[in-house]
Parts: sequence; structure tokens; C-alpha cells
Amino acid sequence: MMTPLSYRSPKTEVRQSKIHGRGLFARADIDKGEIVAMKGGHIVDRETLRREITPRLGPVEIQIDDDLFIAPVTEEERESSMLYSNHSCDANIGMRGEITFVAMRDIRADEELTHDWATTDDDDYSLECKCGAPNCRKNLTGKDWQRPELQKRYAGYFSAYLARKIAMLAPGP
Ligand SMILES: C[S@@+](CC[C@H](N)C(=O)[O-])C[C@H]1O[C@@H](n2cnc3c(N)ncnc32)[C@H](O)[C@@H]1O
Ligand SMILES: [Zn+2]
Repeated sequence: MMTPLSYRSPKTEVRQSKIHGRGLFARADIDKGEIVAMKGGHIVDRETLRREITPRLGPVEIQIDDDLFIAPVTEEERESSMLYSNHSCDANIGMRGEITFVAMRDIRADEELTHDWATTDDDDYSLECKCGAPNCRKNLTGKDWQRPELQKRYAGYFSAYLARKIAMLAPGP
């Protein structure tokens, strides 16, 4: 058996999701700050992702910098790189660095583990959200990291490259 490209905590499990397709779920209680998953794969630029990967494998990547992503590149690698974390506007996992997903609060067994794409993405898309959370923002965009209320809500849990951008935008002393 191939060693998986990504790491998923033994406290997690992939199950059918009400949000979309399959999702990542807690199979045991998870404490705030615990590592839930780490994304592995190949490091590719946006052009390679759009031209060679997405058409064959679908949405399999996470963004790790302005023009860089981590993704599987072959069908054989797809399953072992996928984390299956869906987006929620009321997310319970966030980023530490660029590839590590951690619990943002205590999570109970059987809760779906979701991250907010605002914490990882800087892109041009716009998409209808199906998360079902009471605070759902309905229309998701690849620029949601720029929204002040999300910068506040997810402070400390943005991917490091976005945290740096947010810090650079902040008004000086
Ligand atoms: C990396 S996949 C997540 C795993 C996916 N559910 C599966 O079964 O493969 C990301 C895709 O899931 C869907 N998705 C995840 N969260 C969503 C949400 N809140 N609203 C709408 N679509 C969502 C979108 O189609 C998105 O491109
Ligand atoms: Zn939503």
C-alpha cells in the first residue's frame, strides 16, 4: 500500500456530507488546537493546476501562496491526497502555516470538519454556498479573505501567506 500523501488524524473519517458529496468528520471528540489534517501532494503553479490537474481530477488542491498550490497529479494519487474538507461559513477548523488544519474550537464526535475557504484562498471564483449555516454568506468568492468581519473571525487561523497579506493591508500605528 502506498504511504498516503496527506495526513488525516485517526480521530477523523470520510463520510457522506449534507453540504456536498463526501466530507471529513470527527469520529471522536477533538480539542481546540489539535491537528486534524495535513495536506500533501505536489507543489504546482496556477497554470499547471488549471491546465493539467483540475480538468482530470476536479477540485483536489489547496492554495499555499499567491501562485502555488498542493495537489495530487495522477488518478492514483487522488485519494491519498484528498482531505475531503468541505467549506462552511461557520467553520470549525482553520490553518496553521499553509498545509496544517487545526481545530479552532472543541469539536464533538460526528460533527463535520469544515474550513472556510476565506482562510486558504486568494482567487477569482464565485460560487453559491450550500453550507446551511445560519450565518451562511450564500455567495462565496475567492477574495473573501479581504472581508474585515472574516479577518476578525478567523484571526490566527488564516493560511500564513494570507495572514501576511492581511497584516500588510492593516493601517499602520
Ligand atoms: C475538495 S472538494 C471537497 C470534497 C467533496 N465534497 C468531495 O466529495 O469530493 C471541494 C468541492 O466541494 C464542493 N463544496 C464544498 N463545500 C461546499 C459548499 N459549502 N457549498 C457548495 N459546494 C461546496 C465544491 O464543489 C468544491 O469544489
Ligand atoms: Zn455558507
